[in-house]
Amino acid sequence: LDTRLDHRFMDLRRPQVRKIFEKKSKALNKIRNYFHQNDFIEIQTPKIIGSATEGGTELFPMEYFGEQAYLAQSPQLYKQMLMATGFNKVFEIDPIFRAEEHDTFRHLNESWSIDGEIAFIDNEEDPMKSLEKMIAKAAEINGYNLDLPLKRLNYDKALEIVQDLGMNLEWGDDLGTEAERKLGEYMKEQKNEITYFIKNYPSEIKPFYIMKDDEISRSFDLDFHGIEISSGGQREHRKEVLKNQINKQDLDPEDFEFYLEAFKYGMPPHGGYGVGLERLIMVILELNNIRETTIFPRDRRRLRP
Ligand code: AMO
Repeated sequence: LDTRLDHRFMDLRRPQVRKIFEKKSKALNKIRNYFHQNDFIEIQTPKIIGSATEGGTELFPMEYFGEQAYLAQSPQLYKQMLMATGFNKVFEIDPIFRAEEHDTFRHLNESWSIDGEIAFIDNEEDPMKSLEKMIAKAAEINGYNLDLPLKRLNYDKALEIVQDLGMNLEWGDDLGTEAERKLGEYMKEQKNEITYFIKNYPSEIKPFYIMKDDEISRSFDLDFHGIEISSGGQREHRKEVLKNQINKQDLDPEDFEFYLEAFKYGMPPHGGYGVGLERLIMVILELNNIRETTIFPRDRRRLRP
């Protein structure tokens, strides 16, 4: 794969490689159609940002006319701010940048994120219903005919299954690559399900913007072939509670002033999701490396071509 990627222009002449990008293009078309048919407005939000979105560890720093800036790791805060404006359903398909050092089959340092956000929801089920419809459309490119609604597993149940499969995890631990893979095998072999939600994760392992009912959060992940392709949830829209949650994660509410201001004069209950485009294409086309789905990937060791 490395040799192929080093000389990608030659590799792309091979019909089986070009096919991946033809299918990816089709999937994007289906995804955009889904959003337009369901009254979402396409938005663009800044990719050069002044403060950390979801904690500081995965940011690429840059200099912005003498000021410290970063490349955006998610449109999260901006898509949420729009929920206070009357843009009741928005979507964005744009790059995200993550400085994580992972060198794995499923991580890139520059990736494209498909984000959806919906206002006036009842609970996390509303964004889940939107997400599963969008994913079902995209999956058609490889002949999948997903049976909706997708299966929903509680975190507790998912944990129990992987514990029974011999994983040494406790309540409160994140599932991680290996547990997700094992759960994926189990779900396929025992339940005939290749894609399913895991919902209601422990509050502690979800970000500050997720709504929390004490120790259980209104969050979800969507797994496909045992790989996480999306996460989302209902957001915390009550300004004071949100501020507390920011504090609790050792972040400084002052860094989030521009975001918190949008919650001041009426923020409806809202929620949404983010899907990694390359992850999605990798699982739908059953490829074994995310780099296959990007023409010129950016990973831990690759900045050229
Ligand atoms: P999260 O950080 O889980 O959630 O990211 C959402 C999805 O984006 C993809 N993804 C990646 N793909 C490739 N390489 C990476 N380094 C990478 N990082 C993330 C995955 C993942 O499931 N703001 C929330 C979403 C939300 O709540 O709306 C977020 O970014 O497919």
